[in-house]
Amino acid sequence: MTGSYPNTRMRRTRAHGWSRALHRETVLTPADLIWPLFVTSGKGVEEPVVTLPGVSRWSVDGIVARAKEAVDLGIPVIALFPNTPRELRSDDGAEAHNPDNLMCQAIRAIKDACGNDIGVLTDVALDPYTSHGQDGLIDDTGYVINDETVAVLVDQAVNQANAGADIIAPSDMMDGRIHAIRMALEMNGHPNVQIMSYAAKYASAFYGPFRDAVGSGGLLKGDKKAYQMDPGNADEAMREVALDIAEGADSVMVKPGLAYLDIIYRVKQRFDVPVFAYQVSGEYAMIEAAQAAGIGDRDALVLEKLIAFKRAGCSGVLTYHAAHVARLLNG
Ligand code: PBG
Repeated sequence: MTGSYPNTRMRRTRAHGWSRALHRETVLTPADLIWPLFVTSGKGVEEPVVTLPGVSRWSVDGIVARAKEAVDLGIPVIALFPNTPRELRSDDGAEAHNPDNLMCQAIRAIKDACGNDIGVLTDVALDPYTSHGQDGLIDDTGYVINDETVAVLVDQAVNQANAGADIIAPSDMMDGRIHAIRMALEMNGHPNVQIMSYAAKYASAFYGPFRDAVGSGGLLKGDKKAYQMDPGNADEAMREVALDIAEGADSVMVKPGLAYLDIIYRVKQRFDVPVFAYQVSGEYAMIEAAQAAGIGDRDALVLEKLIAFKRAGCSGVLTYHAAHVARLLNG
């Protein structure tokens, strides 16, 4: 009879809070969180992003204040995305390798203020800098050309590392870019700058509010399906991850998050590498919409979703709710 009722009552260990705490298999702490922030130009500027209620773009001084807040909350890393002024966007996204662009200004200011109390993760892709909103260089037909784009991304990555970035996060999905960026970082005196590769990034309908936040949404014609992955594919994600690890990625990301828990789980089971999930803008906005509509409780929804990422195998999660969640966890 061992193992069957009533010898075994699964509810026994669930009966009291102390016992539930004792038996909890997965925990979430502020150290699991990466906080994405949007940088805008000016001084003392805060611009709320309408499609991301509760999220603003901040000028560099505001970004520094957020970085200090993150340190105080125990959040180990912030991720930066620029809203490049319209007049600085061009066909070739040249502003991406301006050593004094918004990203570099923000990186330097954070490092001056916080040093190594916080890690700065920077996005490598051209969409916040191009006049067409694609992540790379395009040919006459609008197709994003791989190898030429990789060459530009390498310059962008080195530019960010020179400014003090700690983790380079290529989100562009070009082939071969991890190896090219790794080599360039080694050759330019950045052996300890990490690469967190957006290895399995899907062509998703959940990115809309982000494109508003970085100002690329209105510019983008067409879609990104010729480089981002088909949501129906999982074996292909394993190949993407295997390649990025072989090329020198220190950690890999799956994006979006909740709809791709199976991918996270498979990557973790197969490769034993640090895996991160990006709970993207549309996922954040849906939680906020649920709260606003009286459908669910924000705090409970967020905590449940974030623990799901940990349970699936994530080392951490990029989430716009990071500061809010850290405050909840710090009680
Ligand atoms: C672009 C990039 C995107 C996101 C992060 N980097 C959007 C896209 O690929 O169009 C999405 C993040 C989010 O939705 O929160 N390289």
